Amino acid sequence: METKFNRVRGTRDILPPESELYRFIEKTAFEVFEKYQFREIRLPTFENTGLFIRSTGETTDIVEKEMYVFTDKKGRNLALRPEGTPGIVRAYLENNLQEKFPINKFCYCGQMFRYERPQEGRYREFYQIGCEYFDNSHPAADTEIILIVKEIYSSLGINGLSFELNSIGCLNCRDKYRAELLKFLHDKKETICEDCRRRVEKNPLRALDCKIDREKFINSNIPTVNNFLCADCLKHFEAVRAYLTDLNIDFKVNPCLVRGLDYYTRTVFEAKTPSSDIVVAGGRYNNLIKQLGGKDTPAVGFALGVERTAELMKLQTWSGIPPVRHTVWRTACRIDKNIIDKPGQILGKLFLVVEPKDNVIRRGISIFNSLHKEKISIAGPYPDKSLKSQMRMADSAGFKYILILGEQEITNNAITLRNMADNTQELISQKDLISTARNIVLK
Ligand code: HAM
Repeated sequence: METKFNRVRGTRDILPPESELYRFIEKTAFEVFEKYQFREIRLPTFENTGLFIRSTGETTDIVEKEMYVFTDKKGRNLALRPEGTPGIVRAYLENNLQEKFPINKFCYCGQMFRYERPQEGRYREFYQIGCEYFDNSHPAADTEIILIVKEIYSSLGINGLSFELNSIGCLNCRDKYRAELLKFLHDKKETICEDCRRRVEKNPLRALDCKIDREKFINSNIPTVNNFLCADCLKHFEAVRAYLTDLNIDFKVNPCLVRGLDYYTRTVFEAKTPSSDIVVAGGRYNNLIKQLGGKDTPAVGFALGVERTAELMKLQTWSGIPPVRHTVWRTACRIDKNIIDKPGQILGKLFLVVEPKDNVIRRGISIFNSLHKEKISIAGPYPDKSLKSQMRMADSAGFKYILILGEQEITNNAITLRNMADNTQELISQKDLISTARNIVLK
């Protein structure tokens, strides 16, 4: 029907029953987040433009071309958020969350805005669901993030999600890489696009996600950052790959993957199905919190696109009529008074501590995964810390039970369970672990 007003280009009305499908995706993702003990932050939809320039990056397409920027009545320079990560970091710092929450794992959901050319799966207003894990620099945390993505998609009934993975190293690795990359780009000067020519000196890495030149560069063997990784970054990347292999997570290393946002360090990843566009993307960003004025705090996270995920569900699993239970938004019922009175309250009872030795960490991650597969919520491990400081962390966070895994436990095919209330501990055999843990969680 003709109306006086129409939707703005690049925006959509999400009508029933599709709106119910969106709600189901959000609910499923938040149930998984909650199990991994992430807490939700609701962010403002607009922020000071400077926040995105500083974090997403001045020379990225998002900031240079795609941000909805405006001046308010008081002359403030504001932007509709193009992504959630900078807002979460700002909120974490501004609200001093590192002091208030013993476990710094946050999730979010909401509209993002980017002035892109609208097409199937690409809109100017779209929904993202994401999570950010702070203060765990160990590759176990990168692995956990990917595990969460996997669990969300398998809970949604989406099959065939595969991951592309790379490491773009730390700033030191990139300094060395930069010289080599600049040499390559200078040689190609005559044939590269306007954007690349302009950005080359400031941020040559962006050439690798240039929408115009990317394919051309890849075909002419552009140098890739993975050949310039320092020993620590290499070790980190090898560990992430080894843990993912242990967990049977399907991934491929793509040396040309750099991601179009400036804050990443080390691990970057994207996930898609054979027939889809990229639905999920994320990575580690160890410098951003410090760059925005906080303490040196490592971080890793991801965001998924709800529109693209909904399309996949329609293709793979959804008949078009949502089951009744999907339309019930249950999470709100979970918020009990205790949590409102004590905002820093942890969500679960169990915490996994591992002796920081390679074989023990690997076994620990596998145990962590098998508990989560059984829908048993458990936090940790933080293998960058000593066994003692992991214990201290769990204790001060208020976990009632700690599972301790060391060489000795592995030899005995067992795990130690420590009851923090009466300081007793017992050795339980691995075969009894799931039932013991389930009893604890249900207590
Ligand atoms: P991103 O790759 O810019 O990463 O976006 C993540 C996901 O949002 C994409 O994979 C896609 O599914 C969806 N998306 C992006 N742009 C659009 C669009 N115009 N229309 C529809 N869907 C879109 C980030 O935003 C990072 N903040 C992810 C992250 C979190 N990294 C670490 N933590």
